[in-house]
Amino acid sequence: MARIFSGIQPTGIATLGNYLGAIRNWVALQQGEDECIFCLVDLHALTVWQEPAALREQTRQMAALLLACGIAPERSILFHQSAVSAHARLAWIFNCVARMGWLKRMTQFKDKAGKNQEEVSTGLFVYPNLMAADIHAYHATRVPVGDDQLQHLELANDIAEKFNHDFGVAFFPRIEPLVLKESARVMSLRDGTKKMSKSDPSDQSRINLTDTADVIAQKIRKAKTDPAPLPEHVHDLEGRPEARNLVGIYAAITGKTPHEVLRHFAGSGFGPFKAQLAEALIAHIEPIGQRAREYLADPTGLDHILRDGARRAEAIASPIVAEAERLVGLLPGV
Ligand code: AMP
Ligand code: TRP
Repeated sequence: MARIFSGIQPTGIATLGNYLGAIRNWVALQQGEDECIFCLVDLHALTVWQEPAALREQTRQMAALLLACGIAPERSILFHQSAVSAHARLAWIFNCVARMGWLKRMTQFKDKAGKNQEEVSTGLFVYPNLMAADIHAYHATRVPVGDDQLQHLELANDIAEKFNHDFGVAFFPRIEPLVLKESARVMSLRDGTKKMSKSDPSDQSRINLTDTADVIAQKIRKAKTDPAPLPEHVHDLEGRPEARNLVGIYAAITGKTPHEVLRHFAGSGFGPFKAQLAEALIAHIEPIGQRAREYLADPTGLDHILRDGARRAEAIASPIVAEAERLVGLLPGV
């Protein structure tokens, strides 16, 4: 049995992109043999400014959405990162293992900091060290992520290798990324060349998992398209990013291939296609929002689930991190 670890930042509301690109795969993974640990990475969220009240609310909301999507606390461990101190303890050790040059090469930091490198928090710079700690604190070896996180996983392997080498041990195992398939990438409803994102300023660009039926229908009706009818072949979607995206979403949500979708809709305008797409999305997404609202209506129950997850996570991570602390020469804690 291997151990799977993944994380999601509790900022904003999870979108259809998060669902099709990540959460749905997590739900599938927990049906397998491996032990699954899913973490709301609130410490990572702090690397950029968060309103304290909003962060608290969004952490609960993300927990509710993950549960509503089918993450089952009796099968998987679901918890918030800050509840298990092992993450921050190991991250500090990794801050002292990773080299400045390694972190300076991280494209996500360069993208996020942009021209503002002197002004962003130091946490944003060492973000990948904390992510490495998240995984290695559990000796997790399988990590489902989007392809934008691959560089961070390579860094996590480099850190583990240097730690093992420096201290003459074989303590941290290699991580194997489980990269989600290209087909699961959902693009913005306003611009088919941009990823659908929970941080996009335009709410019209995305379907939130909490959107009601009316809102979903309206967003799909207004989604950007082009004037041509739907083509017969998938390769004819080249150069039509919006059409390609909507066909991809319809395929992903109905479990069909884009080829099958086009066989059905070839020659049709977007009007009838969008009506069916909206119907399929509503059937899938609206119950998730509904279930999430039920979880949120019982904050005590929700906090209980997270605390129970944190206890189980702590029981795995604490001894591993205590051993890492011993290996580097720290005296035992109390
Ligand atoms: P983020 O929303 O950037 O915190 O990402 C959380 C998880 O959702 C990561 O595994 C991402 O790869 C995945 N994800 C985010 N947006 C999309 C998208 N538009 N399409 C597919 N997967 C996504
Ligand atoms: N950085 C990841 C993202 O933005 C989230 C994350 C934090 C993560 N720690 C992790 C993902 C550990 C996988 C494993 O999507």
